[in-house]
Amino acid sequence: MGTGLLKKGQARRGPLDGATPDSAFPRRDGVLRCGDESLDALAKEYGTPLYVYNGDRILERFHAVRDGFAPLDLLIAYSVKANPNLAVLRLLGEAGAGADIVSGGELYRIRRAGIDPGRVVFAGVGKTRDEMRYALEQGIMAFHVESAQELAALGEVARGAGFIAPVAVRVNPDVHSPTHEFTRTGHASAKFGVSPDEAVDLYAVIVEHPGLRAVGVDVHIGSQIREPRPFLAALDVVLEVADRARRDCGVDLRYVDLGGGFGIADGEAGALDIGTLAEGVAARLEGRSLALILEPGRFLVGDAGALLTRVLYVKRSGGKTFVITDAGMTELIRPSHYGGVHAISLVHDGDRGTVERVDIVGPVCEQGDFLARDRRLPVPPRGALICVRQAGAYGFTMASNYNSRPRPAEVLVHGGRATLARRREEYADLIRGEHDD
Ligand code: LLP
Repeated sequence: MGTGLLKKGQARRGPLDGATPDSAFPRRDGVLRCGDESLDALAKEYGTPLYVYNGDRILERFHAVRDGFAPLDLLIAYSVKANPNLAVLRLLGEAGAGADIVSGGELYRIRRAGIDPGRVVFAGVGKTRDEMRYALEQGIMAFHVESAQELAALGEVARGAGFIAPVAVRVNPDVHSPTHEFTRTGHASAKFGVSPDEAVDLYAVIVEHPGLRAVGVDVHIGSQIREPRPFLAALDVVLEVADRARRDCGVDLRYVDLGGGFGIADGEAGALDIGTLAEGVAARLEGRSLALILEPGRFLVGDAGALLTRVLYVKRSGGKTFVITDAGMTELIRPSHYGGVHAISLVHDGDRGTVERVDIVGPVCEQGDFLARDRRLPVPPRGALICVRQAGAYGFTMASNYNSRPRPAEVLVHGGRATLARRREEYADLIRGEHDD
């Protein structure tokens, strides 16, 4: 397995700027690029901070998952929350992806992007009745139900509106996922899913209910997980639930959904070995007539995206060196919220100063506003352009207007062309919806 979480005291590996050979933003002639576009030219045209996505890399990752799990009967339900931009959804939809959604808003987006609702699964512990009705009307593939009360509500809504709701029960397998505590969802005390015993009870309810039909079984154990083992442990648990549901309730399920959470490299630690995972999954599904659904988000779009930000000032104080950039926690909250690591590169090689331990911080009035801390980097001059890598997932989508900062633009580079996927917000966007009289 070419992966592994960084152990305490283990040295950081990889080049200083975290660029990997298969990087979506390689360096040519001293300048970082996305396809044929120099990141410098994109920053000049669209301004900074700026999100740039490499569409070719997104498709490469999609095909890597598809091919890695062949010849299993597989649906890749892209996890929309990772990056819900319409341009990204269209790209993946046209490549054959379905979607994993968690809200009516995400359903609205995938409809606008032309993704077939018949390839869409709907998870989340707090679906409202309005969202259930909307999803039933749109004809989604399944609701991934997370509690007995939710199941009862879904049954009522479906009957009331004259539908039969397709259901998979989300099982909490009680496995430990080696990742940040906020992105760990498969342990018993997490708010997600129900225990295996309760899942079997819920299948018994579904069988008796005229407004419900059991179609699958679901699990999702967390995000940015780099070892196959916990996924396979979770799969063993849900397959046993499927067996019990058949034996005890006479339910024949069509699919097992293993969720998402496949870890990517970040310049510090490696990626999940998707081949090893696929082997383990295939061995477990052999002889069963179950289709497989996977819900990758970050794995498809994470390293295909970068945040470009300009150095405003360099400040030395209190024994520290601060590189102050025009992006911060409002544009990318992962470093401050999850201790997320993002490789940092200078767009121009020529901007490399002496290597020091630096904090890269944003302009937001919070001490917790940083993009990287205590990182050995070549100190850039004022005005230098910085590329924050692995920002394609949970980047823009978690951006906020805190400190009344307009959100950045997003650009998609695909097939040799750069297109504006979302315009930069203006000051007027900040007060849209507020009463101004
Ligand atoms: N399926 C379900 C049910 C999920 O809740 C999630 C993510 C996924 C799939 C996709 O996980 P992925 O393949 O992208 O790891 N904001 C955090 C990550 C939160 C993940 C939430 N659920 C971060 O920036 O690390």
